[in-house]
Amino acid sequence: MKATSYLLMAAQASIAAAQLATYSPSEDSEISYAVNVPSASAQSGSGDIFIQIKGPVSGSNARSWIAIGQGSSMPGSNIFIAYPDASGNNVTISPRLGKGFFEPDYNSEAKVELLSGTGIENGMMTANFKCSNCNSWTGGSMSFTDSQSNWIWSSAAYGAIKSNDQSLDINQHNERGSFTFDLTKGAGGSSANPFVSSSSSGGSGSSTTGAAGSNPTASSGSGGSSSSSGSSSSDDSGGDAFFVMFGRILKAHASVMSLAFLFFYPLGAIIMRIGVGASTIWIHAAVQGFAYILAITGMGLGIWIAQKSENLNTYHAIIGLVTVCALVLQAPLGLLHHSFYKKQGGRTPVSYIHIWLGRVLMTLGAINGGLGLLLAGSGNQAGYITYGLFAGLIYVGYFALIAGTIGKGKRAAGRESHREKVNGTQSS
Ligand SMILES: *[C@@H]1O[C@H](CO)[C@@H](O)[C@H](O)[C@H]1NC(C)=O
Repeated sequence: MKATSYLLMAAQASIAAAQLATYSPSEDSEISYAVNVPSASAQSGSGDIFIQIKGPVSGSNARSWIAIGQGSSMPGSNIFIAYPDASGNNVTISPRLGKGFFEPDYNSEAKVELLSGTGIENGMMTANFKCSNCNSWTGGSMSFTDSQSNWIWSSAAYGAIKSNDQSLDINQHNERGSFTFDLTKGAGGSSANPFVSSSSSGGSGSSTTGAAGSNPTASSGSGGSSSSSGSSSSDDSGGDAFFVMFGRILKAHASVMSLAFLFFYPLGAIIMRIGVGASTIWIHAAVQGFAYILAITGMGLGIWIAQKSENLNTYHAIIGLVTVCALVLQAPLGLLHHSFYKKQGGRTPVSYIHIWLGRVLMTLGAINGGLGLLLAGSGNQAGYITYGLFAGLIYVGYFALIAGTIGKGKRAAGRESHREKVNGTQSS
């Protein structure tokens, strides 16, 4: 009686020591993830947790890198990316902080350590690691007793990586998803390496990593994985819906701003420059007003994006805010210029402020579009080149036109006022 209960306790203790919450994405069943939260960490809410990433890095289904992250989507998540090291036999684990939907930055504050059982065997990469400060990070935190803790996963297949560089520039994922880990199912034990020690206690262990992956996974994982995949379907769609929406809003922001700064503002300025008849000034005002509506709309979208991706303190966001806010001065300045012009029959200082503020802000907006592309980090060379060429063409054209009309004006009349007459209607 007593002996059997001791045996039972002993058996439970050994199972508890091996508890792992596991998850394997339905889209990519060759990839699997496991987490263990030791009892001490579960009790104190901080300390070590153990994470395993597994997946193929050679063969027909080879992945360039495989990642897991704490959090419900990329912005604000604590990410770990595994890829083969320079030798090709072991693994580099790269901790990163997700700041938005672009390549996450290397996170030097993460305390991670690769453990035994890590390596690449028969094309299968296993990264067993310990994280000592994963209860909180810049941008988020995680309760170690959460039965619905949020995680994300991703992987990419763009050819083989072999690098020891933890801040290596990597390609975008082509598979991703989100899921929940029931950490109460992955809790327990005080092992220094639950992925290996559990396999030796499990006994059968032929190869350390293989057994570590399969043994405890089979016992606790059946519960763990069913709970994680159960919530993953709804979570996946939730995460995806947000991802899709974020992508659309980013595109809308880029389109609306490009229209404003690469088309309507230059168009309005050119109309004023070359003149289109009696109502030139009002057409100019209407086109610039419309451009301003686009810019304000784009700014609203931009603020939302910056908040979601923690990018409000970037050059792009600051220059954008200053530019669009300063543009509000252009309408009153333009009206003042117009009324002074009519009274005095020529340009006043207000005219030059209006004209030059307009040119500077317009150009800043166009340059800021380039900064925005870089920030979005699409890595899309064709996109950068297209934007650069287009913006360059329009602005070179615009300033050439200014120079040209100045030249003509000077030659024809030798005076400023002539240009205003040619251009507009202000000389009634
Ligand atoms: C890989 O590196 C880890 C950490 O240094 C080590 O524990 C493990 O034994 C190595 N694996 C191989 C296959 O060399």
